[in-house]
Formats: sequence, structure tokens, C-alpha cells
Amino acid sequence: MCGIVGYVGKKDCTRVLLDSLSKLEYRGYDSAGVAVFENDGIKISKTKGRLAALEQKLKREGWINGHCGIGHTRWATHGEPSDINSHPHTSARVSIVHNGIIENYQRLKGFLEKKGYEFESQTDTETVAKLLDFYFDGDPIGTIGKVISEIEGSYALGIMFSELPDTVYAVRKDSPLIVGIGEDEAFIASDVPAILKYTRNYYLLDHEEIVVLKDGKASVFDKHGIPIEKELHTADWDMEAAEKGGYAHFMLKEINEQPTAVKTTISPRITDGMPDLSECGMTTEKLAAYKNIFVVACGTAMHAGLVGKYVIEQLARVPVAVEVASEFRYRNPILSDGDLVIVVSQSGETADTLEALRMSKRLGADTLAIVNVKGSSIAREADMVLYTHAGPEISVASTKAYMVQIAVFYLVAFELAYAKQAISEEECRRLTAALAAVPELINVVLQQAEQCKYIASKLVNASNLLYIGRGLDYALSMEGSLKLKEISYIHSESYAAGELKHGTISLVTGSMPVIAVATQRELFDKTVSNVKEVKARGAKVIFVTHAYKTVESDVADFKIALPTTDDILMPIPAVVPLQLIAYYTSVLRGNDVDKPRNLAKSVTVE
Ligand code: M6R
Repeated sequence: MCGIVGYVGKKDCTRVLLDSLSKLEYRGYDSAGVAVFENDGIKISKTKGRLAALEQKLKREGWINGHCGIGHTRWATHGEPSDINSHPHTSARVSIVHNGIIENYQRLKGFLEKKGYEFESQTDTETVAKLLDFYFDGDPIGTIGKVISEIEGSYALGIMFSELPDTVYAVRKDSPLIVGIGEDEAFIASDVPAILKYTRNYYLLDHEEIVVLKDGKASVFDKHGIPIEKELHTADWDMEAAEKGGYAHFMLKEINEQPTAVKTTISPRITDGMPDLSECGMTTEKLAAYKNIFVVACGTAMHAGLVGKYVIEQLARVPVAVEVASEFRYRNPILSDGDLVIVVSQSGETADTLEALRMSKRLGADTLAIVNVKGSSIAREADMVLYTHAGPEISVASTKAYMVQIAVFYLVAFELAYAKQAISEEECRRLTAALAAVPELINVVLQQAEQCKYIASKLVNASNLLYIGRGLDYALSMEGSLKLKEISYIHSESYAAGELKHGTISLVTGSMPVIAVATQRELFDKTVSNVKEVKARGAKVIFVTHAYKTVESDVADFKIALPTTDDILMPIPAVVPLQLIAYYTSVLRGNDVDKPRNLAKSVTVE
């Protein structure tokens, strides 16, 4: 939800801002803008559309030459995408960029209007620009301190005062912001990829801390102006990890990175053939004591939780409730001391998941975060963290993050089942070894990309699709369906195969293709019966199952053949063709695969 950057150094600031913003476009891309100190003051250029449109505008209307500035790429919340609503927003003495939502902006706007301020945009952000102007008395940190004590909501703000040349100020609360530290240059950015071209060193800014970039250096203060020493972090991945590396899209690259991502995530957590989660403070004894588990997340991360639920309940016999974070946080859930809440998030910044985590802590539950982004808000606030080592996921459609999230759930389930004595040590070792072998299976499925492309060519003109499955295959169907929807814009639904005949089958005709997933051998015949029912009503069926299973022509039009492993682990190879089918369908429809319309990678507003 919006990306912000800032730069102070010796380089061409406009160039640095554009380069850095290009690494944040996944956060929003309906408009872009920069503000840069030029000789005679702050110059602004902004426009509706992608970053490329901003660059063209700058070339057309005049590059802004300077060494200090701020930039923004927007995902609209308040006000349509338009030139006027694009950031930076200004007042007489202030220019700002903002990521987040100012919840009390209407009240503040009313107050400022009474003081004579006039507003030109429909955004909440403009209120902050005017409020900074209202309070500005020559003391920037004091002014920012006053403003943040009045605004409610979430924000990462990059600020420039026209009377204080060549200096960038920034502050955050509940929206991410890092401070990049280079040689004689310093940066602010919503995410690490934005600075990787220039430096791998950065500080993590805490809530309400204020950073000042000046003379190529960064100094951090609390809101009362007291200096704060920050720990320097070093990004453990480089520019290459954040580039497409020869692939047509980040999504395809990330799908192909899954074998490595799983290996990197699980290997350090297997000791002598047994799962070992002690790195996060989760001991076997502690695990054994939990009576209820809640998994709270959004979107794809929530779907990973559904796989986790099946696996934990099946192996460990501990009840698991999977909850959509935006519902969970407002429904006064019944949580207590002996409960474990697992929050799952690639970005670690999803607003609803973060608030659900905070609420769970307040209610006394232990919290465990499964998170990809190091130092993110969720990672910092949870009692325990298990990082998924997937590297940066840039494509808005999540693929490798889902894969490593489910890999971590397997480790949790195996250790928990063993801790509860629901499985023997021998069984735990067998399952752990099978998990360690799954990267190879993913590689096998990746070889079937061409077949997935062919299937996509058969789906490309469909208006509706159904995904069906039972048990773990149903959980997987939900993810397959979401993936297709978000990037191909084809409407699809996922259904428990046995539930179809209770209503939804009335939709099935020759123009409703069905993707059926049948990897759970105990349920295979049942799913086949359901598939025959849709086939009998004219649906074209794509059947995803074990390679060795014979599938008659009255069951499927196309079969996707999966390498076999333990049934419980089958979601790992089985999700790959669903990802590839979604990917190729989107490509064939000519969509912007990595930046689907209306979406953003990191959803930092509720
Ligand atoms: O960063 P998070 O994992 O918390 O994000 C949660 C969802 O917004 C995310 O998974 C979303 O559903 C993806 N675009 C799906 O591909």
C-alpha cells in the first residue's frame, strides 16, 4: 500500500528516487511523484499512472536537479488515482509523502479549514502536510512530535520543509520504514529492495521515532528530540534476488525459486532427523501444553493456515481454528492463556494480521509469527518468530511465500504431534525425511510448465471456473482459485467437492471448466464421483492427481501428473501446477502479471 523513498547524498536525486521507487512499485502503482530540493527551493513532479509515466513527464517538462528529495508510488485509498491526488502533497512550507491512513483526517481538515487552509486533493495525506505547516515554528522535530500526537491511524511519512534545505525527515507508526545507510548518502524506504542498488545496510525505525537525513548521514531521535542509537542491520540478499534474473516476470521466477526456498527454510530446523523449532523459543514441552491453536492471516497466508490446520489436526489431534484476520480482530474471540495464536504473513506488515496479533497478546495467548520479512512489525511484536527464508517476493501474487509457509506448518505439526505423543519418534523421523525430500518433487512438477501453459490456453476465454477438492485438496483449491482470480481476472470459486450438489452444481455447464485436485488417496474415489457429476453436465475437467493413478476419459479432459509422496505432503507438489496455470492464463490474457489491477503487495491498511 504505497511505497515511499527519500534520499540525501551526492548523486542525481531524481534518478535515485525513480530507481528506488521502481523496486517498490509492487506496493501500489496508480500514480507516482517526487519532490526534490533544487537551487531555489522544492520542485515537485507527479502524475497519475505508473512510474514510467512520471519519468516521461520529468524528461518532457524538465528533470529536477538536486541531491535531496522524497518520492512516492501510490495505491489509492482516499480519492481516485489522479494527478491532484498523487503524492507529494504540500502546504506553503512543507512537502510530504505518506504510506498509511490518517483515520481522523476529516476532523483535522475541518480544524485547518477554520484556520484558513485550503485543500486541493481528496486525500487524507494533505491534512498532514497542512498540519505540519500549521505547527511549524522552525523546530522540525518538535513540529513532527506535535503532529504525530494529533494524527490517528497508520503512517510512514517522508517530510521536507522548504526553509530547511537539503534535509529529509521521516517518521512512522504501523507502516513500515527503513533507513538505508550508504557511503556519504542515506535513504528512507518502505522496504529493503529499494536501497539494495546502493547499500545493504539499514536501520529499522520503531514507532514514533524520527529520522533526519542530512549531509549524507542519518540521525534518529525520539519524538522529544532525544537521540537514539540504532542497531545496523545488513540485508542477507542482494540486488540479484530482487531482480527478474532472466525470467519474463517475478511471479515465474518466484515459482521456480520454490525448491530452494523450501530447502533454505526447513534445513536449519531439522536436527538429527527431527524437527527442531527451538531457535524461536518453542520447546517440545511448551508445544505439548497448548490446548487450542488459532491461525490468523489474510489471503494466501490464510490458505497456508488451512493446510496447517489439516496437518496439525490430523497428526497431533489438537484443534486448530483458521481465521481471516479482518474478521477475527473484530469478533471478540475466545482466547486464553493456554492458547497459541499463529499469525502468518509474508510481508509482516499486513494491518489486520498485525492488529489480530496485538489483540491476541492482550488476551493472554502466546503468539508465534511465521513471517518472511526480517524486522517487520509482526516479526518484532510476536512472542516467537519463525522466519520463512524465501528471499524477497516481489510479485503481488504470492507463490513461494505460500510454499515456505506450509513447509513451516509441517515442521510445527510434526514436532507438535511428537510432543503430544500422537506419533512415534520413528514416524516423526519418517515424515521429516519426506519433507526434506520435497524440493526435488517441486523440481519435477516445474518440468511440466509447458503442459500448464497448454491448459491455460484452453482456459483463457473462460468467464468462470470452479476448483474442487476434498480435505487437503479443498484447502489447496482455495489457493488455486485465488491465484487465478487475482492475476487473470477470471472469476473462479473453490468448493469442497462433496458440497457441489447442494447448490453450486447448477452453475456447471460446458462453459464452466473445473479444476479438480485429488491427491488424498483415501478420498480419491469420492472425488472422482464428484468429477463425473460435473463431467456429465458438460464441464471440461482438468484433473490434478498422482502420476500413477489411471484417469479415464469420462473423468478428465486433461490430467496433471504429480510425483508421489506421503499424502499429507501432497499440497507441496500439487500447488505448483495451480500457480503455473494461473500465471500462464494471465500472460495469455495480456495482463500485467506482477502488478494486477487494484492490488498491492503489502496491505498496510485495514
Ligand atoms: O503479506 P501477507 O502475507 O500478510 O499478505 C496477505 C495477503 O494480502 C496476500 O497473501 C494476498 O492474498 C496475495 N496477493 C495473494 O497472492
